[in-house]
Amino acid sequence: MGGVASPRVFQGGETVGYRVRDLSTGEERSLCLDKPPGIPFRRFFFSPDGLVFANALLEQAAREAEVIVVDEVGPLELSSGGFAPGLRALLCAPAFLVLTVRSSLVDEVRSWGGVASAPAIALAPPLGTGRSLEETHRLFESWAATYDPLTASSGPLTGYHDSLARAAELVSTRLGERVLDIGIGTGAFAARVAPLGTEVWGVDLSSAMLARCREEHPDYHLREGHFLSLSVPDATFHVVVSSFAFHHLMPVEYESAFREILRVLVPGGRFVLLDVMFSTEADREAARLALGHLWDDEEVYPLVSAVEQAADRAGAADVAAHRVSWLHWAVVGSRPGSEPS
Ligand SMILES: C[S@@+](CC[C@H](N)C(=O)[O-])C[C@H]1O[C@@H](n2cnc3c(N)ncnc32)[C@H](O)[C@@H]1O
Repeated sequence: MGGVASPRVFQGGETVGYRVRDLSTGEERSLCLDKPPGIPFRRFFFSPDGLVFANALLEQAAREAEVIVVDEVGPLELSSGGFAPGLRALLCAPAFLVLTVRSSLVDEVRSWGGVASAPAIALAPPLGTGRSLEETHRLFESWAATYDPLTASSGPLTGYHDSLARAAELVSTRLGERVLDIGIGTGAFAARVAPLGTEVWGVDLSSAMLARCREEHPDYHLREGHFLSLSVPDATFHVVVSSFAFHHLMPVEYESAFREILRVLVPGGRFVLLDVMFSTEADREAARLALGHLWDDEEVYPLVSAVEQAADRAGAADVAAHRVSWLHWAVVGSRPGSEPS
């Protein structure tokens, strides 16, 4: 088994380039950066060496593999100088070939040399697994020093502050309650939700983000953890909140994340989960087109129904979704049982 991946290069939370990695040997080359030198394409400058390396790996797959999956065929694969030579070799290969293609490019791919006439080729939506855990961790470790929700509140985060305020109203935390914020970042949502004097705990994947949070909220109890493994005791919190972190999970993880939330809530405890979400695939595609280059193809924003259903399946009560702004929804619910006194 072999393959080629192109991990991002981050700087201060921004994608400044991509590398290309041979998955069977681990060998890597630079593929592109956001500055010259290189062959300009869209906002990047491509290294001829990186392109030759990547195309050679694709050509090798065309010669040797029985099943080939390309996730996904995008503008670079379709441009004549980019990955097109490698893709052309794959199209001529005797292998079973699966190409994933976003809906806006399906027609272009269909009309692209060889695809229309190849009976064994299936055109399907991208697998949409988003960033790996390692990439998400790397993103926030490098972004932490400059992460500022005020400046981040564009693109999919448009309306960030209003959304935090509206979502916070949905849980109305009372003094004396204990609050947990998952993916707490710099603590912006916890600070809105928890009245002064409330005991706040925060969990985050990134120690660098937690360090930022500690500077701003020295009284918070902070620890590294993951949505699926919160490293806090059972039945501890009256309120669990999360903002703009849930979409870093894969859809298959949603239900386990809710089970973990219910585990740490006291009976009757409430949760509110705020994030970029969409009610339909068509809405998601419309937002992608409206945001243009501000859209991030590596983020997989959930469908509201998928989140609600996962909460229901995990055993949450009173699950409901509220649209709090153009791109943001808050899903609320509670752990079954009587309200803690
Ligand atoms: C976009 S930031 C949002 C931070 C903050 N909640 C806010 O609204 O400003 C996403 C945060 O979630 C954290 N995160 C990402 N995936 C996570 C996971 N699986 N478990 C816990 N935290 C995660 C990141 O490290 C980052 O701090």
